[in-house]
Amino acid sequence: MSEKKQQVSRRQFLNYTLTGVGGFMAAGMLVPMLRMAVDPVLQESAAGDLVNVGLAVEDITNEPQRVDWKIDQVDAWYESKVGKSAWVYKNDNDEIVALSPICKHLGCVVSWEGSEQFPDQFYCPCHGGRYHKDGQNIPGTPPTAPLDVYESKVENGMLYLGMAHPRGEA
Ligand code: FES
Repeated sequence: MSEKKQQVSRRQFLNYTLTGVGGFMAAGMLVPMLRMAVDPVLQESAAGDLVNVGLAVEDITNEPQRVDWKIDQVDAWYESKVGKSAWVYKNDNDEIVALSPICKHLGCVVSWEGSEQFPDQFYCPCHGGRYHKDGQNIPGTPPTAPLDVYESKVENGMLYLGMAHPRGEA
C-alpha cells in the first residue's frame, strides 16, 4: 500500500468521524428543542372533561337558572381561565336540561324571561331573538337553530357540565 493511499484513507476516516460526532451532537441539541416546541400540541386536551359547576341537583327546579363557572383552557402554549355559563332546569320528566346561553343568530347572550313582553321564553336583546323553554328557536325571530345543549352528568348530588353541542350531535 502506498503512503499517499494511506493518507487519503485517514482523511476519509476523520471526515466520517467528525461528521458522525457532529451529527450526534446536533441531534442531541435538536431533539429536546423539538420536543419542547411540539409537546403542548401533543398533550391531551382537558376540554372534553365534565366539571363540577357548583350546583347541587336538589337546588335545580323547573325554573331555568343561570350557572356560571370557570375552566382551565390550554391553547397550545397558553393556559388561561375561561368563563362558561348555562341555563339549567328540570323538564317535565324530571330530567336536567343545560342550555348554552349563546344565541344562534350572532352569538349574543340570551336570558330567561329577558323581555317582559315574552314571558316563559329565552330572549336575546341584540336583535329580538326568542327561544322556547326547551331551547327551540321561535320561527319568525332571527335565530335559525335551537340553543346548544351541554353534556351533563350528576355525581355525588352535584351537576357536572362539559361541552355544549348543537342538537342532534353526539
Ligand atoms: S344575536 Fe341573538 S338575535 Fe341576533
